[in-house]
Amino acid sequence: MTDKTTTRTVICRLDELQDPDSRGMTVTHDGQLQDIFIVRQGGQVFGYLNSCPHTGGPLDWVPDQFLNLDRDYIQCATHDALFRFRDGECVAGPCKGDHLTVVPVRIEAGDVVLLADVPDLSNS
Ligand code: FES
Repeated sequence: MTDKTTTRTVICRLDELQDPDSRGMTVTHDGQLQDIFIVRQGGQVFGYLNSCPHTGGPLDWVPDQFLNLDRDYIQCATHDALFRFRDGECVAGPCKGDHLTVVPVRIEAGDVVLLADVPDLSNS
């Protein structure tokens, strides 16, 4: 059995984001390039794959714009599905009840950090 090590990648500073705000990016996660986005709300940050559960397409219609006009939900640009910040659940739209795929992020000393488990090959 291979152990896992958690890697930390700094994505940006929390104070680079407004409140609330969103930002998209391409990162190496779980060994592959993936399009993700983060949402800041107060002192919290949430991360999700940029893939709508309705069709698998991206949610943003312009770079870094993932929120609705009231900036209280994530909104898919294709068919206007709305998702909660805290858990990515779709609360309105064609995929109601489905969830965005969580990408683990956290705030460490003012940095927004992406966490990823990678195999630890040092013992093999
Ligand atoms: S592709 Fe997102 S709601 Fe249809």
